Amino acid sequence: MGNGVQGGNLQENNKTVIWRPHEEKYRTSEWYTGSGQITTADEGLSFEVTAVYQLKSEVKVIKDIFAISNDTLGNIYRPRGRCIAVVDQTVAQLYGEKIEGYFQAQEISLELMVVRAWESDKTPETVHRILGFLGKDGCDVSRNEPVLVIGGGVLSDVAGLACALQHRRTPYIMIGTTIIAAIDAGPSPRTCTNGTQFKNSIGVYHPPVLTLVDRQFFATLDMGHIRNGMAEIIKMAVTDDKELFELLEEYGQELIKTRFATMDASEDLAKIADLIIYKALYAYMKHEGTNMFETYQDRPHAYGHTWSPRFEPAVKLMHGHAVTIGMAFGATLSKELGWLSEQECQRIINLSSKLGLSVYHPVLEDTTIMIEGQKNMRRKRGDGGLWAPLPTTIGVCDYAQEVEPDLLNQAVIAHKEYCSQLPNQGAGEQMYLRDLGLE
Ligand SMILES: NC(=O)c1ccc[n+]([C@@H]2O[C@H](COP(=O)([O-])OP(=O)(O)OC[C@H]3O[C@@H](n4cnc5c(N)ncnc54)[C@H](O)[C@@H]3O)[C@@H](O)[C@H]2O)c1
Repeated sequence: MGNGVQGGNLQENNKTVIWRPHEEKYRTSEWYTGSGQITTADEGLSFEVTAVYQLKSEVKVIKDIFAISNDTLGNIYRPRGRCIAVVDQTVAQLYGEKIEGYFQAQEISLELMVVRAWESDKTPETVHRILGFLGKDGCDVSRNEPVLVIGGGVLSDVAGLACALQHRRTPYIMIGTTIIAAIDAGPSPRTCTNGTQFKNSIGVYHPPVLTLVDRQFFATLDMGHIRNGMAEIIKMAVTDDKELFELLEEYGQELIKTRFATMDASEDLAKIADLIIYKALYAYMKHEGTNMFETYQDRPHAYGHTWSPRFEPAVKLMHGHAVTIGMAFGATLSKELGWLSEQECQRIINLSSKLGLSVYHPVLEDTTIMIEGQKNMRRKRGDGGLWAPLPTTIGVCDYAQEVEPDLLNQAVIAHKEYCSQLPNQGAGEQMYLRDLGLE
């Protein structure tokens, strides 16, 4: 290549060359491609490059991923002769034998790293350890060899980040084994580790090339994590899908009780569970998957995530509870702004509360933390405004750009008053992180 003929020089005038690399001949990745243009300046000593990068990210809800008869993973890894996998420690304890048995039966060699992935392990050190496994001193993964990541949201964030850093971009396939990982963190392009004061602040955009969702994994989740995962489904329901909201109102409690229809559940409930998972994934990826680099801030899935990244680590809440507190407060704020009716605001708060999720925490009254949270978020979201998604009706949201301290305080007071008459004054069940010894 180099003279613009053999490669992909599609168009040329005096100043601009549109260049598309030779697709068939030189392409090495199944998932990533790109093209660009180069424009020279009149003085002949400078030029500007504009490039477009394209990626493919597939999502599938499937059954029994590790049943010997299921060829989904076999077909991907057999031609490569091996599978490099990073697996959450608890998942390895519960499913390790099954996973190893599967690859053995498929005659694919498995190179496996087991990682403890508690929230407190979401650190650059954990990312480094995974890089050690992937790199030259470990299994020396190729830049086109998809790493298999199996675990919860913490693992998907740190292992996804390690994959992004290895060879600058190594693909990975995600099997989310918690609800949060299955429908939100897993398919998400946002890989990360925690910073010192702000969750998830260090990372890169690198979605899995394939996300496989099998709700059978939820059978071993404890109730706390089932409930926790419901928060992210409620988020998509409130901001994007009214029908999903109504399904949660009708079946939410039963789904929690049956661990998402994996225990003592009818066929009908199992179908509802798949529908709810699919709808949540679709709503999420419709916005997040088509805006992979968060270039645009009309992001409904940021609902409940404006103040919580600051207060979640401060009071050691489980992520889902921090998000529902943020969402419930956001609903009240929207009502105070005159955007949302009182009746719909209460419906949103009541759904979370009925499912045992937290809708209130005294940390909301800590003005310093709340204002600091807004400041951090404004900086993170690009200085243009706060871009806080708030529901305007169930299934639709708009974005608040400014929340002055007076309005913030007024909304906190109104929210506290409403929540004080809810069970436990709006506190949820098992709301604190257990890996830090809190309950
Ligand atoms: N990147 C994103 O867009 C995004 C989105 C949402 C959440 N997150 C992140 O995800 C994290 C929360 O995810 P999470 O709730 O999955 O937490 P987690 O990864 O800590 O998993 C929860 C616990 O469940 C265990 N576990 C995993 N699968 C299991 C199974 N099938 N059976 C029994 N136990 C199992 C894990 O070992 C862990 O102890 C937070 O750090 C949050 O910031 C990221």
